[in-house]
Amino acid sequence: MHSKPIVVTGGAGFIGSHLTDRLLEAGDEVVVVDDLSTGSRANLAMAERNPRFQFRACKVSECGDLEALVAGASMVVHLAAVVGVEQVMRSPVSTIETNLRETEVVLAAASRSGTPVLLASTSEVYGKSSRPEFSETDDLLIGPSTLGRWSYACSKLMDEFLAMAYHRERGVPVRIVRFFNTVGPRQTGAYGMVIPRFVAAARAGLPVRVYGDGLQSRCFCHVADSVEAVIRLMRTPEALGKVVNVGNDQPVQIRELAEKVIQALGSRSQVELVPYETVFGPGFEDMRHRKPSLKVLESLTGFRPGRTLDAILRDLSVA
Ligand SMILES: NC(=O)c1ccc[n+]([C@@H]2O[C@H](COP(=O)([O-])OP(=O)(O)OC[C@H]3O[C@@H](n4cnc5c(N)ncnc54)[C@H](O)[C@@H]3O)[C@@H](O)[C@H]2O)c1
Repeated sequence: MHSKPIVVTGGAGFIGSHLTDRLLEAGDEVVVVDDLSTGSRANLAMAERNPRFQFRACKVSECGDLEALVAGASMVVHLAAVVGVEQVMRSPVSTIETNLRETEVVLAAASRSGTPVLLASTSEVYGKSSRPEFSETDDLLIGPSTLGRWSYACSKLMDEFLAMAYHRERGVPVRIVRFFNTVGPRQTGAYGMVIPRFVAAARAGLPVRVYGDGLQSRCFCHVADSVEAVIRLMRTPEALGKVVNVGNDQPVQIRELAEKVIQALGSRSQVELVPYETVFGPGFEDMRHRKPSLKVLESLTGFRPGRTLDAILRDLSVA
């Protein structure tokens, strides 16, 4: 039997290209829609050799046959978005416009055909919460609109509300994934992602710039674990209408991370603490800790990300 393809928006990006490779490997047909704004064809080098792969180089909202693509798909995984704190601070208008418009276009198309959608959201929506662990039903604590940093969180949160509204009112089968920091091969440091930035600086023997006091902590999830979780959720009917954290729950302080990278590379670089204001302007706010509760993910899929930071650094040829 000929199975329907899976449409992956943002599939030339970091997470999307790994997901595409895994789906093709599992025998699925995949159509990627990506405008290559932050993604690249190089990420799809393996996929391009597969006859079950197709690529549309355009914005989601400017894809001429999007309606037909979505109608003929078994699912849309919507990853296309403006991503990364530095990019968001540089281009707040395009961040908000892209993150809202493209999601609306995908959901509207899906509502006409009843095609299921998996929407990528982010742990940023938890905002400044100081809870030791973030759960999907927690109240969210977003900063004021005078601080541009929160526009990314809010745009993704509106995407979630819109997806839930399409689910309830128009019957679109929707799943929402809140990714926590995801890392691994193919991630670029160009838009402020911390590990690629540290690795590039340490390799070049330049100061490794840690923002703030470096005592803030994050949990880093290997992209292979994130993709495994997404694929399981795609195939779990009980995940419909749910929001699910996807991440690793082992925290590391950012200063310690910088030192680990320097040591693993045998670099002579030093850690340099840089005030947030110097990088992002006055009034920048960051969360101290960000750790997911994985109860929902585990109860739905029986899976929890387990690859360690050392394994991540090894895969980046750092350790
Ligand atoms: N990497 C993480 O740690 C992380 C954390 C939280 C959430 N997320 C979410 O996961 C998704 C994927 O992130 P990523 O890390 O792979 O980032 P990425 O920048 O590598 O991927 C995003 C992709 O979307 C494409 N794109 C952007 N706007 C587009 C548009 N209008 N039309 C078509 N394509 C467009 C880009 O070219 C890129 O290939 C995003 O929705 C992001 O918000 C990622």
